[in-house]
Amino acid sequence: MIDLHCHLLPALDDGPADLGGSLRLAQAQAAAGVRTVALTPHATARFPTAAATVARGVVEMRHALGTAQIALEVVGGAELDLGWALDLPDDELVGLTLDGGRWLLLEAPLTPIAPLEPGVAALRGRGFEILLAHPERSPMLQRDPAIVERLVGAGVRTQLTAGGLSGQFGRTVQRFALRLLDAGLVHTFASDSHDAERRPPGLRRPLETFGLGDHVHLLCDEHPAQLLAGELLPEHVQLRRRRGLLGRLRG
Ligand SMILES: [Fe+2]
Repeated sequence: MIDLHCHLLPALDDGPADLGGSLRLAQAQAAAGVRTVALTPHATARFPTAAATVARGVVEMRHALGTAQIALEVVGGAELDLGWALDLPDDELVGLTLDGGRWLLLEAPLTPIAPLEPGVAALRGRGFEILLAHPERSPMLQRDPAIVERLVGAGVRTQLTAGGLSGQFGRTVQRFALRLLDAGLVHTFASDSHDAERRPPGLRRPLETFGLGDHVHLLCDEHPAQLLAGELLPEHVQLRRRRGLLGRLRG
């Protein structure tokens, strides 16, 4: 599997504090069946991660993984705050795309109101494609799901996160995650893991819990690989949820 959202780099944001913590997280990723991880530290006013920092981090992490004999590929990236991204020049933004390609991982606003649609249009107008991280956790999108539909119609693709679906962020987030899945508005699935303990990796189990085990490959491998290759994804991804007993109780 390919996990396109992971705060694996040490001491940059609210991920691991040191290399030891990063290697424990990397080991957990590999043990969970992930072969490639995008390093996506926050790039925000609070955590102003620069493209050069990510580039250096990729090199250092590859070296550390090799030394520790952990079988995990890593590529560069960032989880961009909308306002922060809009203020960055193009050459800096290019260095923060997923693996240096055309896709930016944009954090869905966790504030009640944000100029998401005009901001996305501005970034797309500058030639970047947008992968929207954890739309299920965004209060403004929960309140007005039509925004997600319009964004997807305009070319944005979405990334649901494991904790959102599993219930780590509460029932409202979980219900909205299922609603987005059932509406065909989810294109990829990622861990947004921050460490091996508190916010650990693991992609397969939350999907299986909700009868989506048949789609693990599509959401956690095929589509992420296409994004890393700079390709576009279909607008709607109609997924069939197997309605087991648990699915009926929880869905
Ligand atoms: Fe994140």
